[in-house]
Amino acid sequence: MADFVGAVDQGTTSTRFMIFDHDGGEVAKYQLEHTQILPRGGWVEHDPVEIWERTNSVMQNAIRQGSLDASDLAAIGITNQRETTVIWDPRTGRPYYNAIVWQDTRTDSIAAALERDGHGDTIRRKAGLPPATYFSGGKIKWILENVDGVRQAAEQGHAVFGNTDCWVLWNLTGGPRGGIHATDVTNASRTMLMDLETLDWDDELLEIFNIPRAMLPKINPSSHAEAFGRTRTTRPLRTAVPITGVLGDQHAATVGQVCYAVGEAKNTYGTGNFLVLNTGTELVRSQHGLLTTVAYQFGDSPAVYALEGSIAVTGSAVQWLRDQLKIISDAAESEWLARTVEDNGGMYFVPAFSGLFAPYWRSDARGAIVGLARFNNNGHLARATLEAICYQSRDVVEAMERDSGVHLDVLKVDGGVTANDLCMQIQADVLGVPVSRPVVAETTALGAAYAAGLATGFWRDTDELRSHWQESKRWEPQWSEDRREEGYAGWKKAVERTLDWVQV
Ligand code: G3P
Repeated sequence: MADFVGAVDQGTTSTRFMIFDHDGGEVAKYQLEHTQILPRGGWVEHDPVEIWERTNSVMQNAIRQGSLDASDLAAIGITNQRETTVIWDPRTGRPYYNAIVWQDTRTDSIAAALERDGHGDTIRRKAGLPPATYFSGGKIKWILENVDGVRQAAEQGHAVFGNTDCWVLWNLTGGPRGGIHATDVTNASRTMLMDLETLDWDDELLEIFNIPRAMLPKINPSSHAEAFGRTRTTRPLRTAVPITGVLGDQHAATVGQVCYAVGEAKNTYGTGNFLVLNTGTELVRSQHGLLTTVAYQFGDSPAVYALEGSIAVTGSAVQWLRDQLKIISDAAESEWLARTVEDNGGMYFVPAFSGLFAPYWRSDARGAIVGLARFNNNGHLARATLEAICYQSRDVVEAMERDSGVHLDVLKVDGGVTANDLCMQIQADVLGVPVSRPVVAETTALGAAYAAGLATGFWRDTDELRSHWQESKRWEPQWSEDRREEGYAGWKKAVERTLDWVQV
């Protein structure tokens, strides 16, 4: 009997495979990092072959660690870092170029030209996204224009595109020998090429980017019993397990956090932060710098939409303290260092390393540390870094409340940084609402497993999934209203200082 569901979580810094039981409890997990390739300022790449090798290893190791066999898995879900762009030759499985990662800003002149040539409003209206370096469309265009032979290969059907969900799915289902070239609505909604209403690739958008339709994967619902095929019976599993759920990581976390009703939201704290608010089957177009995106689509049911506030740099600002400044030796130490001071000592840090994403969308911004006095020290910088994570989240919560009219009573959180107790306390203080973390903090993998298990009947419906959710910890706001508003005013002033920094 297959008593478990597995999930591949192909993230920005690592790939993991997790196995869950019928109650949504974690049974096994294995995780491996991959190389961050930084060829020059603003460029971020991954090696797709390394990612596929890591995927094989984590699947085999998690199954071994749980003393299970692949035949114990009723289904598998795939979730992924979104937007990151792979183009490969389907005859050989060889990528034409490294994956261009969502954080990469090399396409800033492409994004600026889209706006200048008057395409910005069409992209916003149809795809729900502002023209920005973040999304896949510009990255595909860059590879077509800059890597020899790819445009011609694409026109002949010898170069295909996918985000990393699609790359992993194609390889898992057979690669050059019959691999399935498909993605789901949530990943497709991050390309600037899909119409949010038809849920199909849009000819006008494809023309704007000059991208041949033949390169693009088939778009499926996020949860489907047949559309994604089965694992091939060679590496890594030797068993044909159905793959029945595929969705982008932030959408998966929304599903794992059981945000199935209009007005329910979650905030995930990873390398970046991503706040997603369920707006139901209605498309809400943002007037305040948020993205309109597909939250998920289960089987033949209508798609559920969301507003999203995407923040590029949060957890990766803590990594910057560790790797570049070397003032801490691991991420957890940031809490200890920040606790050595009472407050930020007047210092603000705006980590606009990839420009600023929501709600500003300014690719001309670059990071700044402001308000320095001679008495400031590393403790203040650590504290300002944690505060930056929380102030950026307040920026998107405010935009979300203005766009949707929904006032959050509580913020559901997940992701690595939520282990930082001080950061979560600051988040409650900065927002003035309680912050709540669930028992299963790996909501991304859990959500992918849920999508997969719903398609096969392993789980009955979303009410059953909702019954699994349990709170592990809640932080109540402690700051006075005056302190909260004074602190936020300082942050807004600091953000101003980062704008117009580079010419795009
Ligand atoms: O849009 C980018 C996002 O999907 C990346 O998430 O958790 O891999 O940093 P993460």
